Amino acid sequence: MPAKIITVANQKGGSGKTTVSMQLVGTLARRGYRVLVVDADPQATATRWAASASNEIPFPASVVGLSAANEKVHREVRKFINDYSVIIIDCPPAADSQVPQSSLLVADLVLVPIIPSPLDMWAAVGIKQVIANVSEINDTLRARLVLNQCQPRTTLAKEALEILPAFGIETATSQLCHRQIYRQAAVFGQTVHEFGRKAAAAIIEINSLADEVLEILGVKTPTMQHTVHTV
Ligand SMILES: Nc1ncnc2c1ncn2[C@@H]1O[C@H](COP(=O)(O)OP(=O)(O)OP(=O)(O)O)[C@@H](O)[C@H]1O
Ligand SMILES: [Mg+2]
Repeated sequence: MPAKIITVANQKGGSGKTTVSMQLVGTLARRGYRVLVVDADPQATATRWAASASNEIPFPASVVGLSAANEKVHREVRKFINDYSVIIIDCPPAADSQVPQSSLLVADLVLVPIIPSPLDMWAAVGIKQVIANVSEINDTLRARLVLNQCQPRTTLAKEALEILPAFGIETATSQLCHRQIYRQAAVFGQTVHEFGRKAAAAIIEINSLADEVLEILGVKTPTMQHTVHTV
């Protein structure tokens, strides 16, 4: 089975693309899926994230930097398609970059992380057109908005949610709240799973997103790759 490809895109900077990419890929790796992160951002944040991990607890997935491929990213990604079960492409924020468009050409699913504040959301509406354009070629592309840095029960969040229909993209049921542990995990080059009880709420959120994504993609539970034989 060729890999399912998830592109994480939003031309708005700082919306949580790398956080969603790395937490999701790490969660899938822990579940036994063969996963790869394609760092398609010249800022190389995903690459630095994985490189920040200690030797004792390495980041659980490989990262390959392909930002230099620009509008040919889709061709480069295809080279890895038979070696993995899920590939996640972390896109750069630049609106004029060809990378998001190219990444969407090979994607099965695009996740659009978005901060539920009106300014962030209006700045992100442009992704709708990019997705619509690519969907004319890649007509099986699915899309979900992923609310990130949510602060439930605030008036601002309520106002922001009224803007959601302007995207014309379904919103994922799972969302990530604003939590320090997401920042901390990035500093240590880890996923939230490595932080135990103090990350419990974040672990629930990212597991829920992983479940939702796997269901959308119809990816089966991995067969155990390392069977332990007892004599
Ligand atoms: N749910 C969250 N709670 C707290 N902090 C968060 C959360 N999500 C992301 N952050 C922090 O917000 C900042 C921006 O996140 P991130 O780097 O994932 O965004 P990005 O969309 O990849 O940015 P860029 O557009 O520059 O690539 C980082 O410092 C990250 O640790
Ligand atoms: Mg990023």
